[in-house]
Amino acid sequence: QGQQMWGGRFAAQPTDIMQSINASIDVDRRMALQDVAGSRAHADMLAECGIISEADNEAIQSGLDKVLEEVEAGTFPYRVELEDIHMNVEARLKELIGEPAGRLHTARSRNDQVVTDFRLWTRGALSEAQIALRALQKALVARAGENAGTVMPGFTHLQTAQPVTLGHHLLAYVEMIERDKGRCSDAAKRLNESPLGAAALAGTGFPIDRDATAEALGFDRPMANSLDAVSARDFALESLSALAIAATHLSRLAEEIVLWTSAQFSFAKLSDAWSTGSSIMPQKRNPDAAELIRAKAALIAGQFASLQGAVKALPLAYAKDLQDDKRLTFEAFDTFGLSVKAMTGMIETMSFNPDAMRAAAAKGFSTATDLADFLVRELKMPFRDAHHVTGRIVAIAEAEGSDLAALPLQTMQTVEPRLTEDVFSVLSVEASAASRRSYGGTSPERVSEQVEQWKKRLGLE
Ligand code: ARG
Repeated sequence: QGQQMWGGRFAAQPTDIMQSINASIDVDRRMALQDVAGSRAHADMLAECGIISEADNEAIQSGLDKVLEEVEAGTFPYRVELEDIHMNVEARLKELIGEPAGRLHTARSRNDQVVTDFRLWTRGALSEAQIALRALQKALVARAGENAGTVMPGFTHLQTAQPVTLGHHLLAYVEMIERDKGRCSDAAKRLNESPLGAAALAGTGFPIDRDATAEALGFDRPMANSLDAVSARDFALESLSALAIAATHLSRLAEEIVLWTSAQFSFAKLSDAWSTGSSIMPQKRNPDAAELIRAKAALIAGQFASLQGAVKALPLAYAKDLQDDKRLTFEAFDTFGLSVKAMTGMIETMSFNPDAMRAAAAKGFSTATDLADFLVRELKMPFRDAHHVTGRIVAIAEAEGSDLAALPLQTMQTVEPRLTEDVFSVLSVEASAASRRSYGGTSPERVSEQVEQWKKRLGLE
């Protein structure tokens, strides 16, 4: 007779390969705490409803205390032949307390058990992700506060566009990350319904109380459809999509760090702790962490796509395809957590080079729009005409190898004779950035206001 927990109708053992492809304990052992919590709530409810005796429940609870101790002490004997965490916990319980352990699985299936554990795990992971993102926001806001007036080139198409402030640039990421946190908390809210009691797929004939187990586990309510409860993995997909989007934001910032720390940009320097050297080129300081963050965004997006692919053609209800949901999700959260922490470390400790940023901001005729705006304001030109006149002045400056601010007034007057010395007041990069005072604009004034608001929101200072 088969030795497995489900072995009653089997005469032979599974082959080694069958065991290897089927076992998930190497992955789902991370849900040991959630599994014990789910079993505690279930057993309490069974006793409360008169389905098992108080004495059995007491034996089960004290056995689960022991299991928990072993898990926490690292002495719990995880066994691959027991497939997964659920059967490992139950089998250990049986060794510890004997017969009452066999009553725990009344009115329950691994199908509702696994997804209960998984929802609990994901809920915790989403909350940790938000905490990590908040720490990154704090780091960005602190650096933005120091650099509210640091002028740098703003780009579109990676071509010099208009001067901006570094503080403004960093706060753009703070905004993105706030939405990332919002997506995590939305996912956590929506996932917070209890599948426990759905049993295998159809519910159970035992007079269980699903509200009681839902409440004991911190869920808002029991899921209303037992088929949905055991089949649905959209909570994991939604969580992975939130992570994939957030990782995309980290990757964009990582890419900028790679650019900024190059000798050609020289806008920033990573601290020694966040740089790596080359085995052959002695001068190198490589931004490996930033590069890895870029790659990890692709991995996380892939984990989302893998799970979506596994689920999209699954008929209801449970199928074993769903076992790999946890591997993908755990890896995505691990990878994401590491990325956020590495980014936080880099941001906290990197040094900026305001002189190089300022010099770069002055290149590429970055104040041409200011000149056109000046023509509109002072000479009442239509903007389209001002755009054309400015374009001609830029062409001359380019031909002479000069910045706009260094071009003699007489030269500009060959294009527009009404121009006066006043024009130079708008051609410096500082004046340009300072002039953009519209709400959400790049001026040091507006940026400092935003920094103050973020400091309050994040509880800084
Ligand atoms: N280890 C399984 C999983 O992660 C638990 C559920 C097994 N259910 C079943 N009917 N075989 O999906």
